[in-house]
Amino acid sequence: MKPDMRGETVLEVRDLHTHFFLRRGVVKAVDGVSFSLRRGEVLGLVGESGCGKSLTALSLMRLLPKGGAQTIKGEVLLNGENILERTPAEMREIRGRRISMVLQDPQTSLNPVFSIGDQLREAIERRKRAPNTEIMKEAVEALRRVDIAAPEQRIGQYPHQLSGGMKQRVVGAIAISGEPGVLIADEPTTALDVTIQLQYLKLLKRLQAETGMAILFITHDFGVVGRMCDRVAVMYAGRIVECGPVRQIFEAPQHPYTRALIASVPKMTGPIGRLTTIEGQPPSLMDLPVGCRFASRCPLVEQRCLDAYPAEVRVGDAHTADCWKVTPA
Ligand SMILES: Nc1ncnc2c1ncn2[C@@H]1O[C@H](COP(=O)(O)OP(=O)(O)OP(=O)(O)O)[C@@H](O)[C@H]1O
Ligand SMILES: [Mg+2]
Repeated sequence: MKPDMRGETVLEVRDLHTHFFLRRGVVKAVDGVSFSLRRGEVLGLVGESGCGKSLTALSLMRLLPKGGAQTIKGEVLLNGENILERTPAEMREIRGRRISMVLQDPQTSLNPVFSIGDQLREAIERRKRAPNTEIMKEAVEALRRVDIAAPEQRIGQYPHQLSGGMKQRVVGAIAISGEPGVLIADEPTTALDVTIQLQYLKLLKRLQAETGMAILFITHDFGVVGRMCDRVAVMYAGRIVECGPVRQIFEAPQHPYTRALIASVPKMTGPIGRLTTIEGQPPSLMDLPVGCRFASRCPLVEQRCLDAYPAEVRVGDAHTADCWKVTPA
């Protein structure tokens, strides 16, 4: 979608904090995350394992894992309405219809004991009442839409009878059946092999163009970011440290962490590999430093970086970085 075709802000996340309250301490998994998403836009969320990407997504869906996780601060404005204030019953209405999610492993999203048709039907019936024949017709259409051949036959099958790529497309069909304005895709292709990955990404792009939904696309893979995303947010130890248009982030990354990430992407033509790790460890989310969280690994570190967290600096058009050392635009 061309930039001028993009519409209004559909999702705005402000200063989101989701922490795990454990006996041994507080894990600040999401600790001051802010970003926005416009209609028809794909925002990539990247960062090393454990930096809080999935927890951010689950906080938006209000589907936090059991065992002490709590969103304690912030706002999640979906079409201007703070869904953190909605009741669990209201959230059930919102999920699937207005905001939806596709997870990494289709195995965990599909129920092995129900047929594909039953699972699609359940999703459709959650939002409308109609005669069975009409629901089944819509389920078949939903499968056709995600490029499943012979959907009339597939609909009676069970998850184990489908390939991994097909299962993930069924999960996609369920996620978008309610025509949500926002789709969160958390590493949706990691369990698939490379060719199938590409097909799935193309499918998501096409569905996005058809529906105008906004996508928050979580990935480790900068190659996928280049292919899928309009903008990218780089997350480090519970915060977004840099955010901007994909081209700008690739060509002129500003935050030393983003630079290290981009430098670690193997240079070659064709599909780009996954991130190799950069030297050192991120700080413990139970014991975060007062200053910049990247300071212990940063080649440019100086005293002020250790003394206080840097304010967000505007480094370009719609491009920001949290770093003492960057030059404001
Ligand atoms: N059940 C849990 N109990 C305690 N801490 C947890 C739990 N689940 C996650 N965390 C903490 O939350 C942090 C963020 O986890 P999250 O799953 O959001 O990371 P991620 O960025 O999605 O990583 P990955 O790329 O590996 O999927 C982790 O570093 C971990 O310390
Ligand atoms: Mg994750």
